[in-house]
Amino acid sequence: MARSALLNVMVQAALKAGKSLSRDFGEVQNLQVSVKGPSDFVSQADLKAEKIVREELLKARPTYGFLGEESEEIQGTDGAHRWIVDPLDGTTNFLHGIPQFAVSIALERNGEVVAGVVFNPATDELFTAERGGGAFLNDRRLRVAVRRVLSDCVVGSGVPHLGRGNHGKFLVELRHVMGEVAGVRRLGAAALDLAYVAAGRFDGFWETDLSPWDMAAGMVLIREAGGFVSDMKGSSDIFDSGSIVAGNEYVQKALLEVTNRPVPTR
Ligand code: IPD
Ligand code: CA
Ligand code: CA
Ligand code: CA
Repeated sequence: MARSALLNVMVQAALKAGKSLSRDFGEVQNLQVSVKGPSDFVSQADLKAEKIVREELLKARPTYGFLGEESEEIQGTDGAHRWIVDPLDGTTNFLHGIPQFAVSIALERNGEVVAGVVFNPATDELFTAERGGGAFLNDRRLRVAVRRVLSDCVVGSGVPHLGRGNHGKFLVELRHVMGEVAGVRRLGAAALDLAYVAAGRFDGFWETDLSPWDMAAGMVLIREAGGFVSDMKGSSDIFDSGSIVAGNEYVQKALLEVTNRPVPTR
């Protein structure tokens, strides 16, 4: 499969950071870990991976801005382009030896996400997409799932960190969704969850209290696989609201309706 020069840059950065993550995953018990907030951890592995991605991307495109989870934002001299990077999505899984984590890299152009790469080094799964060029898992072209009826669907979600987000509200959403679908999954790495929607593994996904680096790459993967994304209010202000609802045309709409049902009175 021939990739564009842009995707090549992103893939090389993701693979290099992925190697570093794989090494650290092998000796996870020796890693230094600090706490950013209640149940919100960052390890040496996150910091090393971010440094690698940042260096690779800025070497290839020195004028672009850079927004990463673990470092100060760089504005860049080119006002139009910004990298959005989560060097290790799924830190909690990683620190528990659970092989469900990823490097996520996206490129924003004039405020629109135009390319995304999500790489899970533990499974060697590389998800790539560029606007107008389709979405791929390794060499295979991706399409979102075709199921239309919620009772046939498996959907993913995420539980907000302790002290962040509203667990009561999430439980209401979960209760409503559980009453409609075949299954709900919480795998613990939002960027991969969204890639799973693009790959048709999840029929849909919703989560609140996320950051741009959790969602940016996944958004372009899903759109390029024929799917739809909005925030929890149905608007396209996904980064501002920090919430996302995703699926094919039918499931996205249905999930939006179900997650917005009012709190039951009894
Ligand atoms: C987290 C994961 C998780 C989601 C959290 C995120 P991190 O990212 O994506 O699935 O539920 O809200 O913060 O901290 O592991 O990069
Ligand atoms: Ca984090
Ligand atoms: Ca993340
Ligand atoms: Ca992270």
